[in-house]
Amino acid sequence: MQDAQQRIEALRHEIEGHNYRYYVLAEPSVADPEFDLLFRELQALEAAHPELITPESPTQRPGGQVETTFNPVKHTVPMLSLANAFDREGLDAWDARIKKLGERSAFRFCVEPKIDGLAIALRFEQGRFVQGATRGDGMTGEDVTPNLKTIRDIPHELAAKTPLEVRGEVYMTIADFQALNERRGAADESLFANPRNAAAGSLRQLDPKITKGRPLCFWAYGVLGLEGVTRHSEALAKVRELGFPVWDEIQVVDSIEEVWALCEAYQQRRASLPFEIDGVVIKVDDLRDQEELGAVGREPRWAIAYKFPAIQATTKLLDIKINVGRTGTLNPLAILEPVEVGGVTVSRATLHNEDEIARKGLMIGDTVIIQRAGDVIPQIVKSIPEKRTGTETEFKMPAHCPECGSVTKRPDDNVAWFCTGGLACKAQLVRGLEHFAGRRMMDIEHLGTKLAAELVETGLVQDLADVYALTKDKVLGLERFAEKSADNLIAAIAASKARPLSKLVFALGFRDV
Ligand code: IVH
Repeated sequence: MQDAQQRIEALRHEIEGHNYRYYVLAEPSVADPEFDLLFRELQALEAAHPELITPESPTQRPGGQVETTFNPVKHTVPMLSLANAFDREGLDAWDARIKKLGERSAFRFCVEPKIDGLAIALRFEQGRFVQGATRGDGMTGEDVTPNLKTIRDIPHELAAKTPLEVRGEVYMTIADFQALNERRGAADESLFANPRNAAAGSLRQLDPKITKGRPLCFWAYGVLGLEGVTRHSEALAKVRELGFPVWDEIQVVDSIEEVWALCEAYQQRRASLPFEIDGVVIKVDDLRDQEELGAVGREPRWAIAYKFPAIQATTKLLDIKINVGRTGTLNPLAILEPVEVGGVTVSRATLHNEDEIARKGLMIGDTVIIQRAGDVIPQIVKSIPEKRTGTETEFKMPAHCPECGSVTKRPDDNVAWFCTGGLACKAQLVRGLEHFAGRRMMDIEHLGTKLAAELVETGLVQDLADVYALTKDKVLGLERFAEKSADNLIAAIAASKARPLSKLVFALGFRDV
């Protein structure tokens, strides 16, 4: 797996280099068959490891170049990428290399998390945000200014009036990514594979109104054009003063030993951070040293990314259970023999739909490799068919809803199966009630997941309209309710009657509306 990831990255890098020389410089450096061979190798590896596919991969971009739907922006200074180190040896080797090159016995390093999103350059003139672009191929990116203007983290006006270019990462928090996917699932829209893809997909929308509805964040990690600063860490402090979010625990250390200790510490913290990081970025702090060290090709010598190993484990797929979603979607869930993966015990994994189960060739009872890629939702990477004993059984989507027994169906144009029971299905009613009372819908405080289930279970709510027939007496009969909490709930229900029609329509949760 680690090997595959390294090879994939090396191939992408090489292919991008060829693309750049072919399309931008118009000086092809390899013959077509040779290029095709590389491209096909990458495609085959990505097919075997779909979880490693990223939207930036040359295989995902027709023509392998800057896309034409947005206006191209030529970067004033190329947006470089980073060389990777995968272990302590890799970091030591880099340290030794730059010491030799710079004829120095030590460097000061600035250590930052490597946030998993997409790189963006923001240009400011006379203190105003004038243009923002994606990285593209490093030389030319895409103009996504109107979309970037919808991101609250990005200031529109700066106190500094000199021309500045702030660079950083647009990303999505894990919680926002999960909520977005939940909404998309409920609306029968395709799900994003991870926060990074969700961020990239949300930013590269032709309609900024769509981007505006997506919870994107920004983090600055570099700046061009600041005068009077001599260190990278100092530049970042200035950028923060200007009003940009900057990671507030950036550390400056004097040795690669300390760098390694921080890499290990980040690896430990990774699971508890609210956003995904896939490594740590180490930069030589002194800007003059940076200049002296320079770059090779499109990678600076003065920085390196330490990439975390993907956290994997082997376990058994005990069963595939079905959860019924709000609109009746049958969501398969893998039940696993509990196993520890990177400090967290995992006993469940998402399996998006029937097709994914088929694609991965999963049978109940299989030995499987699971992976926690920074985010909290573990995935099944693949099964190990060689470990089969003959007792494994094939999985079939149920013909009847496991919650209400209604017939299920899979519409021709859909990857999902549905329960046809509607609100007669208790599971759908609970989810529907939860949605109805949600913050962006009827906003009924105190009516959350637990209470929704209880109201349906006790039969107090058999239909969404029953919410408005609830009385203090009825509520007092429920567990955990006393005078005051019952009053609060009834008052919250009464207050929800004042919501506008648009909220009510949304709250009723019609599919496709
Ligand atoms: S510095 C020349 N700092 O990683 C230095 N990059 O693999 C260029 N990234 O394209 C980037 N966190 O999208 C830098 N703290 C950080 C970063 C970071 C994430 C991304 C960025 C870049 C990619 C390079």
